[in-house]
Amino acid sequence: MKLSSNDVKLIEQALDGYLPSGDCLEKSVADSMRYSLMAGGKRIRPRLVLEFSRINGGADGEALPVACALEMIHTYSLIHDDLPCMDDDDIRRGRPSNHKRFGESVALLAGDALLTLAFKTVFDGLNSQNAVKRAKCAELIAEYSGAHGMIGGQIIDLESEGKPPKLERLEIMDKKKTGCLIKAACLAGCISAGAYDSKKLDAAENYGESIGLAFQIVDDILDVVSTTDELGKPVGSDKTQEKATYVSLMGVNKCRELVDELTKRAVKSLEAFDGEKGRLEELALSLAVRSK
Ligand code: IPE
Ligand code: IPE
Ligand code: MG
Ligand code: MG
Ligand code: MG
Repeated sequence: MKLSSNDVKLIEQALDGYLPSGDCLEKSVADSMRYSLMAGGKRIRPRLVLEFSRINGGADGEALPVACALEMIHTYSLIHDDLPCMDDDDIRRGRPSNHKRFGESVALLAGDALLTLAFKTVFDGLNSQNAVKRAKCAELIAEYSGAHGMIGGQIIDLESEGKPPKLERLEIMDKKKTGCLIKAACLAGCISAGAYDSKKLDAAENYGESIGLAFQIVDDILDVVSTTDELGKPVGSDKTQEKATYVSLMGVNKCRELVDELTKRAVKSLEAFDGEKGRLEELALSLAVRSK
């Protein structure tokens, strides 16, 4: 996907520019933020913001601060997710997890600082034309990252460890811990482009909900079938932590069928948009068959 690699460059340049300088007494936390944010990663959430902005005729320059904010929140969630009190994983994005490199206190603070930097970043380039759009994005991102969103999913995940998986609970957990940020990316892309009409927002939400759930199911599959080298994070971690996952409930094959079904649903929801849908179709399809 050539076009998306250009987008990754665009996103990474912008992220780099938002990071604090390490030339100060608080160098360790600044270095630790940079270490995780600039370690690669697929940049799915910021790419979704850009694509949903474009499909609504929005300018990349308006979507980019919002896109970077979501990637900062996602990266903070990964730093905290790897801590010994959470999933206790030592490798992330192909290098030692943040707390392995900087220690737990710095990792905790780097996560906190990325979260707060995200809400500063949403307002980068604020002016009288974009103020309402940016404020709406900030509200949306806060809502979907918080106690009833990503954080909500993370606590359900931790409190499900060692218990028999139940379908209804798994669906809620995955839609929150992973689906919510992905959904927020789709919606924020629309809003930053000024697309407020409910038909489009519902379609973006449906797309995000479907690929979001599929994304976590694929993540659970890869934890079983992939390798640490390929994934850049430890495989077998879910089993070690006795996580409740779709794979532990229904096995890999049934999971793949479900991912296909969700992906089809996502592609169908794009019918609500008049703009060029090819890239979002391709993104949904490529995520379903991803190997990392
Ligand atoms: C990993 O997210 C955590 C989940 C929500 C499943 P990604 O698979 O998007 O991780 P990066 O950003 O590419 O490292
Ligand atoms: C992570 O789910 C979801 C969030 C970080 C919010 P996982 O715990 O399955 O993610 P990985 O497998 O460690 O990337
Ligand atoms: Mg986890
Ligand atoms: Mg984890
Ligand atoms: Mg996982």
